[in-house]
Amino acid sequence: MMQYHEFETTFEKLLQTQKDLYPYAVDYHQTNFQHSIQYLLSSILSQTEALLQQPQANWENTEEVVGDILYCADVNMQQLFSLEIPNELTADRDFEDVKTKLYETKYYPISEHLNYIFLPPALERKMFIHKHLDRLADTGHFCDLGFGPGVLSAFILQQKERWIGCGIDISSYCLQHAERLLKKKKVLERCKLSLGDVRALPYPDDTFDLVVAVEVLEHIPDPEVGLAEALRVLKPGGYAITALPINLPILMHLYDFESPDEILALYKKVGLKVVDFETKEFQRQTETFVDTFALSIKL
Ligand SMILES: C[S@@+](CC[C@H](N)C(=O)[O-])C[C@H]1O[C@@H](n2cnc3c(N)ncnc32)[C@H](O)[C@@H]1O
Repeated sequence: MMQYHEFETTFEKLLQTQKDLYPYAVDYHQTNFQHSIQYLLSSILSQTEALLQQPQANWENTEEVVGDILYCADVNMQQLFSLEIPNELTADRDFEDVKTKLYETKYYPISEHLNYIFLPPALERKMFIHKHLDRLADTGHFCDLGFGPGVLSAFILQQKERWIGCGIDISSYCLQHAERLLKKKKVLERCKLSLGDVRALPYPDDTFDLVVAVEVLEHIPDPEVGLAEALRVLKPGGYAITALPINLPILMHLYDFESPDEILALYKKVGLKVVDFETKEFQRQTETFVDTFALSIKL
């Protein structure tokens, strides 16, 4: 794997040749390398540029996360910088369109993983899980629905050393990426990740002590179906950690929640008792949106 100093040299060269494209990255680079790499990567991946111009982001884990991404995606910096960004989705918020044009690309798990460098809602998801890990028993079995780059699965397995896990995601690129992350974090032997759809889980009823469904149910047109499946595989008395955005109508979100009350009503309807519910406001480009984080118990 590329060492950090090689990474920095490569980065510096590339930056000089791409000055026009990433002027603010160049500015940052002159004062603080760690800042500029985040600006550059995020610019290249055309994500949330405005957000990144806020200097209060948490920069601490940059090197580790970038190292993880290079390893998981099996690319070097040159390849990462020349990564092809998927074309705009064309169909009107259609699941198959999103799946083939976005989830089934090498770009997708990388872009989701990059969020864990800087994106406040992603960092908040991890913090919400962290906040509740202590109430879990020392041993247990969890399932991560829509595990994406695998950051949250890896985090839980690292924090709960006697837990085992499994997970489902619709994207074969996420599966490959996440398995490599778990391997790098030395927790893969305690976790079985698979390809699958949250709307039809391949697990028996009452299997898990904890089900995690973080920023995934809004990616299907019928979140209630996915949530009911999550509940089916959760043991009575087991915990669910869920995160759902409100009013964030981006193309891969196939269902728009309109209010925290709508989300709370859905949890109640499927048989979840909410123990902790947080709503937080975040900026996305020029708009604000609210993200919700919930810990619930299956009645
Ligand atoms: C925004 S990402 C969240 C990833 C991860 N939970 C996290 O918070 O880091 C949404 C994930 O849901 C997955 N996904 C979308 N529709 C799905 C479905 N029907 N079944 C399983 N996974 C799905 C996507 O492939 C993607 O990895």
